[in-house]
Amino acid sequence: MKTSSHDDTLFENNIGEIKGQQGKYIIRVKKMTDCQGDAEVAKSPLELYEQLTAQGDEVRTLKTAKADKAEIDAAVQLLLKLKVGYKQMTGQDFKAGCPPSDNSVAPNNGPAAVDADDEDTVDPWNVSTSNAKGVDYDKLIVRFGSSKIDKELVDRIEKVLGQKPHRFLRRGIFFSHRDMQQVLDAYEKHKSFYLYTGRGPSSEAMHVGHLIPFIFTKWLQDVFDIPLVIQMTDDEKYLWKDLTLEDCHHFAVENAKDIIACGFDVNKTFIFSDLDYMGATPEFYRNVVKIQKHVTFNQVKGIFGFTDSDCIGKISFPAIQAAPSFSSSFPQIFKGRKDIQCLIPCAIDQDPYFRMTRDVAPRIGYPKPALLHSTFFPALQGAQTKMSASDANSSIFLTDTPKQLKNKVNKHAFSGGKDTVEEHRKYGGNPDIDVAFMYLTFFLEDDEQLEKIRQDYTSGALLTGELKKILIETLQPMIAQHQERRKQVTDEIVKQFMTPRPLNFNF
Ligand code: TRP
Repeated sequence: MKTSSHDDTLFENNIGEIKGQQGKYIIRVKKMTDCQGDAEVAKSPLELYEQLTAQGDEVRTLKTAKADKAEIDAAVQLLLKLKVGYKQMTGQDFKAGCPPSDNSVAPNNGPAAVDADDEDTVDPWNVSTSNAKGVDYDKLIVRFGSSKIDKELVDRIEKVLGQKPHRFLRRGIFFSHRDMQQVLDAYEKHKSFYLYTGRGPSSEAMHVGHLIPFIFTKWLQDVFDIPLVIQMTDDEKYLWKDLTLEDCHHFAVENAKDIIACGFDVNKTFIFSDLDYMGATPEFYRNVVKIQKHVTFNQVKGIFGFTDSDCIGKISFPAIQAAPSFSSSFPQIFKGRKDIQCLIPCAIDQDPYFRMTRDVAPRIGYPKPALLHSTFFPALQGAQTKMSASDANSSIFLTDTPKQLKNKVNKHAFSGGKDTVEEHRKYGGNPDIDVAFMYLTFFLEDDEQLEKIRQDYTSGALLTGELKKILIETLQPMIAQHQERRKQVTDEIVKQFMTPRPLNFNF
C-alpha cells in the first residue's frame, strides 16, 4: 500500500492520478487538452504532418520577407501548437522530411505536463510555450508538486555556507526544489551527501545552455566539498535517436571533455557512460532491477507518455536514470553504504524521472534524492522553447568562433526592443522577452550592473544593438576560456575521470 507522503503528487499532473486500493495502483487517465483545438484540426498524423510542413514553410517565408513581427510571432505560435498536437497524436517528435511511419494514432496518455490552460509543454523531450516570456515556472511548481526556491531558502543557503549564493540562485534560475531544507539540516549536522547530475550525449556539439547544470554543480561541489557522480546516458540516446551504439559512446566521451572543462576536481568526481558502467558494476545493475520491479508499465506510461509501440528499452530506461540516486550504486565511492543522501541539480524537464525515483526509494529501503531544478536556457529565437543543438541557428555552440558568436547574437537573438531608434528611445524596450537580456541574467556576474542594464533598456536609454554588444562581450571571453580549458583535457584525463575508483572521501 502506498503510504502517504508529500510525493503523492507523483501523478498529479494533467495526465492522471493515482489511487492506492488494496495494494494496487489504479491510474485514471484524464483526457488531455486538444492542443490544436481550433479550426485547423487535422484528422490523421499524415494530415497533421503536412500541415506542419506547410506552416514551417510559412514561417520561413515570413522571416525571409522580413514580415511584420506580430505576424511572424503568430505563425510561430501556430507552428508550436501543431508540434505539440503532433507529438500527442503520434507519440513522436515532428521531424521535417520524416513523415509519420503509419497512420495509427497513439493512445491519448501523452507526457506529463501539457498545461490545460496555456499549453506549456514540459517533459524530458519537449519544451514549448506560446508565451514570449517563457514557461510559467510558478505554475510548473504547482503542477509538479515541488517547492519554490524562495528568498528564505536562498538566505538560509547563504547562512549555512557563509558565502554569497551563486547568481543562478540569486536570480531564480534554479527556481524549484525538493527536500533542500533537509539537505541543509544534514549538512549542518556534518552528515555527508553527494551530488548526481547527467547528460544525454546526442551529438558532439554542446551549446551554452548545456553548461548551466554543470556550472552550478561545480559551484555546489566547491562550496559543499562533496563527491559528484555524472551519468552519461549513451544508452538513452541510442534508444531514442537514430544513432549507433558506437556513435553514442563516442559522444559520451567527447561531451565528458566539455564537462571536465567546467573545472571539476578529478579527486571528487566520477563520470560514467551507462554502456560501460552498467556491465562493470553488479551493484549498479542490482539497483536497476530493484527499481524495475517497483514501477509498472502503467506508471511509466502515465509519467513519460510511453505508448504501446515504444520499444521496451525506452520503457525500462527510467530505472537506469534513477539508479545513480542511490549511493549503493557506487560501491567504489561509498563502500557499500546505502544511506548517503543524494542531491540532484537538473533542468526541470528531468523531474519526471526523479518523481518516479522518489516514489520508489522508500519501498526499496533507500533515502529519497533531493532536487534542485533550473529553468530552461532560451533559444536565440525566443523563450517559447529551449536552446536545441539540432537547430544550429537557435544555439551558441561551445565551438563557435568569436565572429560566429557575434553574428548569431546580432542576427538571431530575439529582441524586445522597438523597431526604430526613435520609438525605442520614446517607449523603451522589454527585457522580459529579450533574449540578449535573458542570457545576461545567466552569465553576467555583477547584480548592480545587470539591474542598471535592465533599467536603461526599459527606459530606452540603452539600444538593442548596445545590449547585444554587452552580451557578445560577456560571452566571447567565456567561450574562449572554455575552449582553452577543453584543449587541456587529454584522453588520459578523461580516462581518469571515467574509471570506477574511490574518491577523496572516507565513507
Ligand atoms: N536524461 C538526461 C538528458 O537527456 C541525462 C541525465 C541522466 C540527467 N541523469 C541525469 C540529467 C541526472 C540531470 C540529472 O540530458
